[in-house]
Amino acid sequence: MITLHIEKTFDFISKDSVAAYEAKAKAAREALENGTGKGNDFLGWLHLPSSITTDFLADINNTAKVLREHCDYVVVAGIGGSYLGARAIIEALSNSFSWLKEEKKDPVIIYAGHNIGEDYLFELTEFLKGKKFGVINISKSGTTTETALAFRLLKKQCEDQRGKEVAKKVIVAITDAKKGAARITADKEGYKSFIIPDNVGGRFSVLTPVGLLPIAVAGFDIVQFVAGATAMEKACGVDVPFAKNPAAIYAAVRNELYKNGKKIEILVNYNPKLHYISEWWKQLYGESEGKEHKGIFPAAVDFSTDLHSMGQWIQDGERTIFETVISVEHTHNKLTVPSDSENLDGLNFLAGKRVDEVNKMAELGTQIAHIDGGVPNIRLTMETINEYNLGELLYFFEVGCGISGYVLGVNPFDQPGVEAYKKNMFALLNKPGFEEESKAIQARLK
Ligand code: PA5
Repeated sequence: MITLHIEKTFDFISKDSVAAYEAKAKAAREALENGTGKGNDFLGWLHLPSSITTDFLADINNTAKVLREHCDYVVVAGIGGSYLGARAIIEALSNSFSWLKEEKKDPVIIYAGHNIGEDYLFELTEFLKGKKFGVINISKSGTTTETALAFRLLKKQCEDQRGKEVAKKVIVAITDAKKGAARITADKEGYKSFIIPDNVGGRFSVLTPVGLLPIAVAGFDIVQFVAGATAMEKACGVDVPFAKNPAAIYAAVRNELYKNGKKIEILVNYNPKLHYISEWWKQLYGESEGKEHKGIFPAAVDFSTDLHSMGQWIQDGERTIFETVISVEHTHNKLTVPSDSENLDGLNFLAGKRVDEVNKMAELGTQIAHIDGGVPNIRLTMETINEYNLGELLYFFEVGCGISGYVLGVNPFDQPGVEAYKKNMFALLNKPGFEEESKAIQARLK
């Protein structure tokens, strides 16, 4: 279960000022429900959890089973919303060292198509030589350069190494129902494929096959993941009063902090497994709210690691930040600090204590220090890291983002700003159809 705590923001904003968001947050939540707000053709994610059927999950699990049976490595090719959700969940649930173990019970998931690093792709293709690998090619548009380029390399290598017949079994496409190169290829080659619904944008797609298939291939329980999201869908429903709706409260608090000059929100974890949850969250909020020259800048740190680097800025730099801490209550494992008769490191004061107790005191000490230093603190407590709670967490952030974006007054479901670099890149690479842009950009470079 996920619980939101906002009391540690009240030194900076008043309870009343948060309560004053009731009407705006309610209107925003109703606009999501009724499809009357901006970007209303992209609201398919809102009731996704409760609309997922057992048959649909069984289809995904059956496809995952084929990949698990035939592959030691599965490359997830995708970028942005087409890979971050899967990676966030898989890394949160995985043993930190499972990929280094010789005996592996699950295929290792590798990511590609999210960069254009020649060394990265060279090293990946070298690594995969002689390996039993498969590919999940994820692209809603089916034309994203980073992903398409990686897939071109991986498809050829898979076919060359494993033969066309096996390649057909171990390559799966997740893309649009009709449009795009990924769909054309999947249909022509006869790949198993899943559809990304038209009305679900990339960064809201973790509960579609985009997230669910890689998570299932990695060996995790997608039924529980969807169940957690469904519980949160109910908890943040349109009929839930403002004061009881965690997503509406989160949206209200962050908008009020923003209004009071807190322009940067830092998502904090004290568990390295949550690093990619932050990467997913940064995309969700950055791409949804950063427009019309408005929007909180979403940043993230892993504590206590980054207390030894970014900690200085957070404690003492410009006072334009607030923190949202994901606090995990219970670890899965127990490790106690041993006593040492010589005590050369002076750590015997910790002997007999759990490592997590030390971590928790680092967390509490940091919270107090940061509040003293002028950093408002929102906390999200999670009982433990499991599929159910992660489903709750991700859906909470999605609906919080929809409400928050509407309260801010932007369209949270488009991303016009990400096209600018693509246009220039295509012009510079002389892509057919960009002749005019090519001429214009070349003239600027003279
Ligand atoms: O959230 C988004 O819309 C983006 O991050 C996209 O998911 C990303 O650009 C990849 O696009 P596509 O799935 O079309 O390859």
